[in-house]
Amino acid sequence: MAPMTRSRSDNPETAATKLTALYYKQRASAGLIITEGTYINRNAVGAINVPAIYTEKQIEGWKLVTSTVHKEGGKIFAQLWHVGRLSHPDLLEGKLPLAPSALDITAQIFTKEGFKPAERPREMTIEDIKETISDYKQAAINAIKAGFDGIEIHAANGYLLQQFFNLYSNKRQDQYGGSIEKRARILFDILDEVKAAINIKQVGVRLNPSLNGIQGMMLDEESIAVHDYIVAKLNDYDLAYLHLTEPFTDVSGNPLAIQQVAKHYRPMYKGTLMINHGFTKKSATQVLNDGDADLVAFGVPYIANPDLVERFKIDAPLNVADPSTYYIPGEKGYTDYPTL
Ligand SMILES: Cc1cc2nc3c(=O)[nH]c(=O)nc-3n(C[C@H](O)[C@H](O)[C@H](O)COP(=O)(O)O)c2cc1C
Repeated sequence: MAPMTRSRSDNPETAATKLTALYYKQRASAGLIITEGTYINRNAVGAINVPAIYTEKQIEGWKLVTSTVHKEGGKIFAQLWHVGRLSHPDLLEGKLPLAPSALDITAQIFTKEGFKPAERPREMTIEDIKETISDYKQAAINAIKAGFDGIEIHAANGYLLQQFFNLYSNKRQDQYGGSIEKRARILFDILDEVKAAINIKQVGVRLNPSLNGIQGMMLDEESIAVHDYIVAKLNDYDLAYLHLTEPFTDVSGNPLAIQQVAKHYRPMYKGTLMINHGFTKKSATQVLNDGDADLVAFGVPYIANPDLVERFKIDAPLNVADPSTYYIPGEKGYTDYPTL
């Protein structure tokens, strides 16, 4: 099950609740659940009602989820998230969002008062970067304490880590900007810290190398090269898996984009490779049979089909997800989709 933000933690502590636990329990027959992105610290917040993982109460909230999923025989990883510039002062007690560089950005941010345009972020100091790296480590420790089987580092979809990778969002000239190695460095600094705290075999990394035209991201002339560098270097880490997505938007004919992400990276990555985006039972079977991936993650099909595995087994029809209920509080469109 692919990570999906569902914004049901409408409580002052933004902690996961019994309702969150029920949602994941219903989906526990997935081979592996990757949770919605969970914020690693206060600055990481980029939307309302998202369950975070930096306070004791939040850890307690996640314990409800992991214990319930484990009782059902499921496995669950927490997706560790920092949105970087994809936030708004309304969500950060009036403070500017943090980013590699202070550059204007066109994006809409979901606040308590609805969508608002993103503001120019504040450039992170070296001290901010060190703190953030350390907070990833603490969040990994918190996740294990909360009973998770592992964590996924969210380095995709235009959020903080991808903002470091990209030439349009990272204009730094220090050890975290400039060359490909320096723009990728924050991810490896995080992995090195996390590795010192928890078993690296319980760590996955998510990348979206062909993200273009959404989430404030544009492909640059080194997007392929920086992702190639990252994937090759990830071979040095004995990760649980590398989680890749095929392009989210149409990039056909764009020479800056990898057109077929799994096919491109399968020969390069030696470990377990997970692929996602737009798969059906048929196309997932195909990609596995072709040997282009070891695992396929399903997102939207899991919103509407808690028993997706059982349905796939007997080729049963699928429920259709209702996008108007993706991010609203309560049970509607969350825990009320029927099983077979
Ligand atoms: C409601 C919703 C919330 C999402 N939230 C996240 C998230 O928190 N973290 C993430 O990495 N991807 C997130 N995604 C992207 C999904 O993980 C997945 O990449 C996308 O839905 C494409 O896969 P699919 O075609 O199987 O749905 C979200 C997608 C949806 C529909």
